[in-house]
Amino acid sequence: MLEGKTVNLRVREKEDLPLFAEWFSNLEFLGEYSGVRQTSKSDVEKMDEEEKMHEMKDFFIEKKDGTKIGLISHFHVLHPAAKQLEIGYSVIPTERRKGYCTEATKIIVDYLFLSKDTTRIQAATDTRNLASQKVLENAGFKKEGTLRKCHFSRGAWRDWLLYSILREEWKQPKILTKTP
Ligand SMILES: CC(C)(COP(=O)(O)OP(=O)(O)OC[C@H]1O[C@@H](n2cnc3c(N)ncnc32)[C@H](O)[C@@H]1OP(=O)(O)O)[C@@H](O)C(=O)NCCC(=O)NCCS
Repeated sequence: MLEGKTVNLRVREKEDLPLFAEWFSNLEFLGEYSGVRQTSKSDVEKMDEEEKMHEMKDFFIEKKDGTKIGLISHFHVLHPAAKQLEIGYSVIPTERRKGYCTEATKIIVDYLFLSKDTTRIQAATDTRNLASQKVLENAGFKKEGTLRKCHFSRGAWRDWLLYSILREEWKQPKILTKTP
């Protein structure tokens, strides 16, 4: 487990797949800028296999009392040999705007730079998703540019903004005090 100040990150296990299926079928959890999707338990099992190809790892964002309030994931953008990492996240609607995602993002950035031989971590978000942009800026990411019409969501192709943080900008752990 990765321990933060107000939240911890706990690796998602196989037995958590039913909760995954529930959250990935809940449009409020996915947020207004995500694609519309309905995810069955067998879809989630298939996702689990695909995630292995991209060396994707999902963490639950948990409050200190163990309540699961969201997800944050990291995965390889290209072939794992390219060492290009990306992150994505979501928090349940009732726990938004409390700083939890900002803290979870800082924790995962610490974890990735401490544990992986990578020079950059990236994240992409819909141009209209101000909350996500704020999370990334709070965690030290810089805006790189626009990915034009790269994502199909709610009946239209949407522009996304690409953000990244470089190892030299991160410099040292912000939250993780124990080396993973
Ligand atoms: C994006 C998301 C994960 C942010 O989680 P969160 O825990 O609410 O984020 P934080 O509390 O750390 O807030 C970060 C900043 O965004 C601001 N913010 C939060 N919601 C906002 C909104 N709807 N509009 C504008 N700003 C918002 C907060 O006020 C905070 O700003 P501050 O640092 O100046 O105080 C959450 O809104 C969510 O789950 N959305 C749906 C899924 C999603 O969009 N995921 C990202 C896909 S790229």
